[in-house]
Amino acid sequence: MSWDERQRRMLAELGIPPWLVPAGPPAAAGAGAEDGGEHLPPDAPDPVPVAASAVADRADPVAAVPRGAPAAAAGAGAPVAAPGRPAAVAPAPLDAAPGPRPGRGGLAALDWPALRAEVAACTACGLCQGRTQTVFGVGHPQAHWMIVGEAPGEQEDRQGEPFVGRSGQLLDSLLQSIGLTRAEAPPQRQVYIANTLKCRPPGNRNPTPEELLQCEPFLVRQIALVQPRLILAMGRFAVQALLRSSEPIGRLRGRVHRYQGVPLVVTYHPAYLLRNPLDKARAWDDLCLAAETAAASDAAAPAN
Ligand code: URA
Repeated sequence: MSWDERQRRMLAELGIPPWLVPAGPPAAAGAGAEDGGEHLPPDAPDPVPVAASAVADRADPVAAVPRGAPAAAAGAGAPVAAPGRPAAVAPAPLDAAPGPRPGRGGLAALDWPALRAEVAACTACGLCQGRTQTVFGVGHPQAHWMIVGEAPGEQEDRQGEPFVGRSGQLLDSLLQSIGLTRAEAPPQRQVYIANTLKCRPPGNRNPTPEELLQCEPFLVRQIALVQPRLILAMGRFAVQALLRSSEPIGRLRGRVHRYQGVPLVVTYHPAYLLRNPLDKARAWDDLCLAAETAAASDAAAPAN
């Protein structure tokens, strides 16, 4: 299918007026207008122009060894850019830098069933008191694409699966538009979806820094087990966890970052897109960047 045809179908699927989107493959995206968090207040910061420079590759004490992807070859500081795009900028450190990891060193040795059981039994923060169940993650255990969101909402808490509410429907459409799915498929097509938090914050409030800190080692281990070739970080809490950046989404999107050597693309959270449908055109640009980057990763990696 030609690029234009794919784009036409995707725009129709998402209800984006074609005049909002320039013809042809996406150019390097500028800064978006808003942050992309699930529970973003309406007065989100305005965009600030982005300067291209070095790559972001967060140092993390927990091992996550990329699966022979080109990401593995590029260490911290190596410039990376999708064809025709500027390299990623190293994100500024968080204003309030998180403290040391909680005592979860043992997680690094856990396999999938053991990790799932550990999450299900977790009482590390107060969210355990209000949850119906933990929401672990879903998808191919060796997916090439890993999607990272924020936290379970009401539906997810009830069903035990991430992104099953309205945001999830939009996420599924977005994935479908680039040939991906959460349903059973080979690892090139079936994504793995996980949240930064595994328990629902009451009333869908924003996660607190302490909750994020307590839960993050689970996500770190999930990434290490999946060994994705591309991470799509949706919304500011995913970005905070993975890039240690408090920059608005609009300043981080449009470039390829790295998490433990794995290419990482930042985009808006689907819940934000539901409230700000005109930014779906930017999200489409982000997906195209992610698809180009994943294709480059796949081309350089061993067959799977
Ligand atoms: N928003 C998220 O970030 N994750 C979910 O699972 C549902 C909504």
